[in-house]
Amino acid sequence: SDTEKGTYAHYMLKEIDEQPLVIRNILQKYQDEANEIKLPDDIRDAFYASDRVYIIAAGTSYHAGLVGKEMMEKVIGKPVEVHIASEFLYNQPLLSQNPLFIFISQSGETADCRGVLVNVKAAGHPSLTITNVPGSTLSREADYTLHTYAGPEIAVASTKAYTAQMAILAILAMDGAHAAGGDTGFDALHELSIAANVMETLCDSKDDMEQIARDYLFDTHNAFFIGRSFDYHVVREGALKLKEISYIQAEGFAGGELKHGTIALIEEGTPVIALSTQENVDLNIRGNLQEVVARGANACVISMEGCHRADDQVVIPRVHPYLTALVAVVPLQLISYYAALHRGCDVDKPRNLAKSVTVE
Ligand code: G6P
Repeated sequence: SDTEKGTYAHYMLKEIDEQPLVIRNILQKYQDEANEIKLPDDIRDAFYASDRVYIIAAGTSYHAGLVGKEMMEKVIGKPVEVHIASEFLYNQPLLSQNPLFIFISQSGETADCRGVLVNVKAAGHPSLTITNVPGSTLSREADYTLHTYAGPEIAVASTKAYTAQMAILAILAMDGAHAAGGDTGFDALHELSIAANVMETLCDSKDDMEQIARDYLFDTHNAFFIGRSFDYHVVREGALKLKEISYIQAEGFAGGELKHGTIALIEEGTPVIALSTQENVDLNIRGNLQEVVARGANACVISMEGCHRADDQVVIPRVHPYLTALVAVVPLQLISYYAALHRGCDVDKPRNLAKSVTVE
């Protein structure tokens, strides 16, 4: 059943492996009889009526929101802001005339998000929850819900729920563009199917990921992740995964920001994992890598076809530039998993963390 580990040593590894299936499942669930993706009319209308979208989330779901903003702004051309729920709650930014609030929450129970939703409802603003648990508090209390259909996620560190959230955001972006009468040239159905296949290829390269964990992370106190544009959001998620389950101090940085402070921390052997999936910033991130390598960093490069070099450690088959986060996170999840495993950590139940944080 969904909630059994079967032959897997850990739920986390099982859930990483389930990701291609989850994406295919989502595509099936959101297709109509004509095999077209179409969201419910009321959600379309709410989207169309809003002049600005406010995404509210915490943790990994916040990282999905950052990617969702990029997709929605680029595909629909509507402004989107992404906020950490606990920050928005006590320091609300100025709102537009007709905001639409989107809550992203695997559990649908995160107290920080609920606090914002209560205020949003009191102010009369429309709300949509993207969640893996349709009967959850955030789902019941928001005006609309989109279900991520990822199946129960048991491991505390979120993997398949994150990629499912981004798939839903891609669908939302495409549908919103159609509702606005535009042809975006972004066929979410087609592009997500390709992404699911690429995820599967990456899940099949576990031995390579284990080797990378061995080469870079078995014996270190810290690790830096760098990326630009979409990749910046993904490396923040990669660093969060590593922190959560291996307790290695890790941070994800915008490549160009390193020289403004963090490069002071690079020493002989410091692991730096760089991600390059976006052709327009490939040369920039390569330049940032040279800067850290010149200071002794132990550099690992994960790239995508089109941006790759012969000696990159991982080369991901090409997907649509808006969907690179869905596939690029898979090697980062696996590398974190093997780092934690070999450091003897409790992968599925890391210390100090809860799957769902229902208190503020
Ligand atoms: C907790 C979990 C994280 C999760 C965050 C938000 O901190 O440990 O993995 O990303 O809550 O959870 P949500 O259910 O709202 O997505």
